[in-house]
Amino acid sequence: MAIAVERGAAGPRLHLKETLVPHPGPGQILIKVAAAGVNRADLLQVEGHHPPPAGAPETPGLEASGTVVALDQAVTGLRKGDEVCVLLPGGGYAEYAVASALCALPVPMGVSIKDAGGLPEVYFTVWSNVFDTARLKPGESFLVHGGSSGIGTAAIQLMHARGHRVFTTAGSAEKCAACVKLGATRAIDYRSEDFVTLVKAETNGSGVDVILDMVGGDYVMRNLNTLARGGRVVNIAYQKGAKVEVEFRLVQARLLSLAATGLRGRPDSEKALIRDHLAREVWPLFEAGRLKPVTHRVLPLAEAGAAHQTMRESRHIGKILLAP
Ligand SMILES: NC(=O)c1ccc[n+]([C@@H]2O[C@H](COP(=O)([O-])OP(=O)(O)OC[C@H]3O[C@@H](n4cnc5c(N)ncnc54)[C@H](OP(=O)(O)O)[C@@H]3O)[C@@H](O)[C@H]2O)c1
Repeated sequence: MAIAVERGAAGPRLHLKETLVPHPGPGQILIKVAAAGVNRADLLQVEGHHPPPAGAPETPGLEASGTVVALDQAVTGLRKGDEVCVLLPGGGYAEYAVASALCALPVPMGVSIKDAGGLPEVYFTVWSNVFDTARLKPGESFLVHGGSSGIGTAAIQLMHARGHRVFTTAGSAEKCAACVKLGATRAIDYRSEDFVTLVKAETNGSGVDVILDMVGGDYVMRNLNTLARGGRVVNIAYQKGAKVEVEFRLVQARLLSLAATGLRGRPDSEKALIRDHLAREVWPLFEAGRLKPVTHRVLPLAEAGAAHQTMRESRHIGKILLAP
């Protein structure tokens, strides 16, 4: 069984459909899915805005956890019966999913197999953007927009655990309180407060060193005005628009850097390097109890449509999971 997208006059509809169990190809493993994470990109894909890369399954689902039930003979380091979580190019909303062995990590000790289904997409994204792209250094300060999102809850916890001062924005007092509980120094309610003014005030006027942004639009210039000299901003989405006017004289005068990245279309060899960093630097923090999965709700796989509606309305804090 897997989730299929039916496109009708009333818009796309998600429904459970009988499917064949996929076969692991070269370098791949087959997992019996315990839980699949729901990501904003899945909503975009269903609406036709984020097509799967060439060769990826049409079934939505960018991450899952489960038990290895079959594997290609060339795969080393994994065995049938291992409990893993995997980053996928698609296909997670299903009873069985195939993944590249290069994108698999063990379920961290102390984390349930279901909760682990919501870890890969956010931690691969946060690590690669904050450390590889924006080069956050020890002692530097950090701002993540959308602190109560899957990405935000992971970013706040990870930067707090690594000793950084963390600022964040969220859309309600309840969401801001959740962000502070996760380790944010200051959570800013973006509906009633101005993050540029507040971050400047909290940093004695100097600004923040690194920003992880998923908002875009007017946030592009506001981010630049919030950065410290030599600061870096990296965008992983442009929810308020990707076409904006930028005052590049400010970028030049203050030695700022702008970057933007996408994870899904990158080759497995690049994802494997991020996976290795997670195994070394992040999974031990779960095992030490310093990071915790933030699961908003686990819904049955058949209720994928309801899960998408919850995310569309932004009623969640953390990850929404689907369990077959
Ligand atoms: N490029 C990549 O490789 C990559 C990978 C993973 C995710 N992403 C992107 O990262 C974002 C988060 O993903 P997710 O799956 O964790 O989704 P999500 O939980 O639905 O998060 C979306 C977040 O955006 C916040 N937001 C919307 N407007 C905002 C504003 N004006 N100011 C501050 N925050 C605002 C929402 O906050 P409120 O609910 O408080 O309004 C919500 O927390 C998505 O846009 C996704 O497409 C990109």
